[in-house]
Amino acid sequence: MEFFIDSANIEDIKKAKDMGLVDGVTTNPTLIKKAGKDHKATIQEISQFIDGPISVETLGHTAEEMLEEANEYITWGNNIVIKIVMTPEGMKAVKQLSAKNIKTNVTLVFSPLQGLIAAKAGATYISPFLGRLDDIGHDGLTIIEQTRTIFDNYKFKTKILAASIRHPMHILDSAQMGADVATVPAGTLFKLFEHPLTANGIEAFIKDSKAWATSAV
Ligand code: E4P
Repeated sequence: MEFFIDSANIEDIKKAKDMGLVDGVTTNPTLIKKAGKDHKATIQEISQFIDGPISVETLGHTAEEMLEEANEYITWGNNIVIKIVMTPEGMKAVKQLSAKNIKTNVTLVFSPLQGLIAAKAGATYISPFLGRLDDIGHDGLTIIEQTRTIFDNYKFKTKILAASIRHPMHILDSAQMGADVATVPAGTLFKLFEHPLTANGIEAFIKDSKAWATSAV
């Protein structure tokens, strides 16, 4: 399973990259707002030190508007993925970008049928939002399971990118269900290292190393 970091915060992305946790990056308008810097400058900075795919979200309503943004975004880095919302106009844009071999990530996916439509349009990734489904009392993970079955049945190459991850269990369950990628906020990524037995074990080893016998020379 690949890990993408769901962030536009340069420090967090660098920190996670150094830990070997960043195969790619996803951004959205809210994350750009949180990062507090210019959109283009932020993406260009990220693409200077990340080789993997970087998803950049279009804001237009029509396919023409999205395509115009996509043409601009692909000049911002070497591995830009055009993030497009799950709408009829969005799927028109995905079809055209896919024909030009430009990578796309269909976002705001909340059902396996939306995932199927995006795969038929030629999307590189689809992003089912687990946490936001859980928030309204639906089981977000079911969508991963159902979409995996559909994509395997018809041999779609579109990758399932588990998004709106809220906690480590979302990652564990998505991995078991066969999601290709999880895009994870920095705080949740760092939590993956934590285990009380690891912390206790380190403490005990350090304590014992201080009580080592020394051999007489
Ligand atoms: C995915 O690409 C989205 O940016 C993200 O996962 C949304 O997560 P949220 O529901 O926590 O905002």
